[in-house]
Amino acid sequence: MADLSVDLGFRVLKSPLITASGTFGYGEEFLPFYDLDILGAIVMKGIFRDPRPGNPPPRLHETPAGLLNSIGLAGPGSAALQEIIRRLHARTAVPIIVNVCGEDDEEFAEVAALFSAMDEVAMLELNISCPNVRQGGACPAQDAGHTARLVRQVKDRVRKPLIVKLSPNAVDIVAVAQAAQDSGADALSLVNTFLGMAVDITTRRPVFANVYAGLSGPAIKPLALRLVREVCRRAYVPVIGMGGIASGHDVLEYFLVGAAAVQIGTINFREPAAALRITGEIEAEMERLKIKSLSEIRGQLQA
Ligand SMILES: Cc1cc2nc3c(=O)[nH]c(=O)nc-3n(C[C@H](O)[C@H](O)[C@H](O)COP(=O)(O)O)c2cc1C
Repeated sequence: MADLSVDLGFRVLKSPLITASGTFGYGEEFLPFYDLDILGAIVMKGIFRDPRPGNPPPRLHETPAGLLNSIGLAGPGSAALQEIIRRLHARTAVPIIVNVCGEDDEEFAEVAALFSAMDEVAMLELNISCPNVRQGGACPAQDAGHTARLVRQVKDRVRKPLIVKLSPNAVDIVAVAQAAQDSGADALSLVNTFLGMAVDITTRRPVFANVYAGLSGPAIKPLALRLVREVCRRAYVPVIGMGGIASGHDVLEYFLVGAAAVQIGTINFREPAAALRITGEIEAEMERLKIKSLSEIRGQLQA
């Protein structure tokens, strides 16, 4: 049997596969499909301090090989998520990662501190792609200076490993990645969704109330792979790659450009047990390529 474990430096995961925030509910919904313990970890849907209704419908729109979403980070609030995590932890040993959001920097730090104090939580993922309401709707991930300040402020308040999730919509994602790691990020994850839009030609209106929405799924894989490679070339902390992964082959591509683990998102909607299939495919590819551990090919792209 191939060894699927990966070492993030601060933690060893039994599998490179992590389910991505917003595409795996709060884990509980997927318990009927397979034993979540086969996963490296799961990431919860993004959470703010208070409950949020999210955006008006429609919230999802399919595109060729992709999915546009404008959920608006709907959620039950931190207190309710704490209860969900306690319940889930009692039913599975899979490491739980909380995707932390905030309408301003103080809220990010407060939510991160709250979940950092929970024994049931393994790691935190800072979703710096949330619009900062107090700062005119700009999200920290678009600005290296803001990212540096925010990561430092959060890092001071937490004792769990901190993953910072980057946005592909930044003008210079490598500069933002460097700011995050220099300010204390233990790992980087990328990418979040690409900004896109869809138009209804009958009504002559945008499909989404907010006009723009986030694109994910196989359509973004080549774009995401390039950005992961760019960030990996400069990163001294582990990088968790994602964007359009739908097969074991895709996972190995991300490892070759330097990823230390991966997340799978949109594929979970189409195929709830995708992680089970992809796990088998990774093992088969490793056997075909005669590698015993994914660390053997990490960053080994010959370019
Ligand atoms: C419906 C939906 C909801 C999402 N919600 C979140 C979220 O709450 N926090 C976050 O950091 N990313 C969120 N994402 C982004 C995914 O975690 C992931 O970064 C992105 O979809 C790219 O991976 P994929 O192509 O495998 O889906 C969401 C994506 C989708 C499709």
